[in-house]
Amino acid sequence: TPGNDHQAEDATITQGVVESNHAGFTGTGFVNYDNVTGSAVEFTVNAAAAGNATLTFRYANGTTVNRPMSISVNGSAQTKDFPGTGAWSTWQEVQVNAALNAGANTVRASSTTANGGPNLDRLSVGVTGPPDTEKP
Ligand code: GCU
Repeated sequence: TPGNDHQAEDATITQGVVESNHAGFTGTGFVNYDNVTGSAVEFTVNAAAAGNATLTFRYANGTTVNRPMSISVNGSAQTKDFPGTGAWSTWQEVQVNAALNAGANTVRASSTTANGGPNLDRLSVGVTGPPDTEKP
């Protein structure tokens, strides 16, 4: 649902620029990560209750080289691949499972190679269930 969409261009950007020169983005643009290690986009995700969620990153990578990123949720990080999508105007999705706290959560996507990250359009958050601690 739109309420769970977070546009990258509205997030906190460290070493990246908002651009709109490749078609197919949602919102008003996308983030072009600087081509350096550690370039990052950080989102604040508010959750009504603690629970498990799927984080869906919509991105484009017009190269043939993977642009892995570290996906950190409240400081707990995992590295995900963002493979080539064929063109900068071809957008695909990568999903990450995460445990969210009630209230504000920090989701940071930072590049782990000198190529920087892919072009990032959006983070969508889908709650999938209660916290693991509350499962029978
Ligand atoms: C090209 C492309 C950018 C992209 C960049 C990159 O310049 O137009 O949108 O971000 O390559 O390699 O990161």
